[in-house]
Amino acid sequence: MKKYLIGYVHGIKNEHKCLGKGPEFLSEESTKGAHRIHKALEIYKPTPLVRLDGMAKSLGVKAIFVKDESQRFGLNAFKGLGGLYALICIVCKKLGLDMNTISFSDLQKPEWKEKLKGMVFVTATDGNHGKGVAWAAGQLGCEAHVYMPSGSSELRAEAIRRVGQAEVRIMETGYDDTVRYAAQMAEKNGWFLVQDTSWEGYEEIPKYIIQGYTTMAEEAVSQLKEAGFETPTHVFLQAGVGAMAGGVLGYLTNRYEGMRPIVSIVEPENIACIYRSAQVDDGEPHPAENTAPTIMAGLNCGEPCTVTWPILRDFADWYLSCPDYVSAYGMRLLAAPAPGDRQVISGESGAVTTGLLNVIAGKEGYGGLKDMLGLNENSVVLLFSTEGDTDPVHYKKVVYEGKDAMPF
Ligand SMILES: Cc1ncc(COP(=O)(O)O)c(C=O)c1O
Repeated sequence: MKKYLIGYVHGIKNEHKCLGKGPEFLSEESTKGAHRIHKALEIYKPTPLVRLDGMAKSLGVKAIFVKDESQRFGLNAFKGLGGLYALICIVCKKLGLDMNTISFSDLQKPEWKEKLKGMVFVTATDGNHGKGVAWAAGQLGCEAHVYMPSGSSELRAEAIRRVGQAEVRIMETGYDDTVRYAAQMAEKNGWFLVQDTSWEGYEEIPKYIIQGYTTMAEEAVSQLKEAGFETPTHVFLQAGVGAMAGGVLGYLTNRYEGMRPIVSIVEPENIACIYRSAQVDDGEPHPAENTAPTIMAGLNCGEPCTVTWPILRDFADWYLSCPDYVSAYGMRLLAAPAPGDRQVISGESGAVTTGLLNVIAGKEGYGGLKDMLGLNENSVVLLFSTEGDTDPVHYKKVVYEGKDAMPF
């Protein structure tokens, strides 16, 4: 496929985009169980879809909407949607309960809690996913073990311990090897592995997780409608292993059928496995070419999720990668918005799409990519700020002290 380097943004246009239906497991029918489970939670509230008219005006587009996932379940990130739903599916299967009628609060009743006592959950995480799993396991009175890759912030580890009494360990291995370690521990000890990526032979639980993520897309579709928009014209989705991006893209492909938005997948240039897979262009998933550190901890993943790779391959329009300072730019723009716009607290992995949109469509230039993406005065852009200030110390450095400023 053709590769573009536009300033410091790398882009690949998908030349084999498929116009067919999205995957069945991400249809409206197949995902409504996950939406029902989430909506029955006592703490459930749709996260805000923030409209940024000041930013839209400055970029010359019709409207920009940012889904603020810092408000999700008090967990400061969207990830709990997947871990919680998968945990409930595992529990229901184990105890022979009906997924169509059960609720999380049923499972918190003493008679069920007693039966769940022996169940132990394990996962690897760069932060947000592990927090969701630890929280859900803790709510059910179950033990959880969470492994984090080397370089993980101790603050993020502590935040996981706080929500769910999980045992949390920062390892000396990178993300992908830490996932393999969690899988080995599950195998050895008979624990339940709740991992937010998949590989051959481990796909059922990741599918539940991915279905769980679609709740935020379903909310965004309804909220856009309420705001008077049938569909967005452009969606930017950030990717680590690509489970979130693939889940949301698959769901939107099914929901919007003939009126599909232009969808771009966004990764840090230091570790970009989806971009790399599109670049190799043999239809298969490939590990990232480079694995240098990035401030986008949630996107610091070198191997694509096998369940969602085919969705990203077949239905995305663009694959983009960019340096860390694009994400830092997005964090600052959302923290100190244009007059009249509401502030969104957005962390490193949450803000990269906002930063990138502003780089592509802003006055500085990169007009080439703006035109290639078809961004103009009729465009309605949907972004997902997938986390808040999950590393508050680093957030302050970026937002208040100008760390990772644009180099020009
Ligand atoms: C805040 C945030 N955004 C986006 C992602 C990317 O999700 P995925 O790894 O499914 O691509 C993650 C993953 O951990 C994350 O924590």
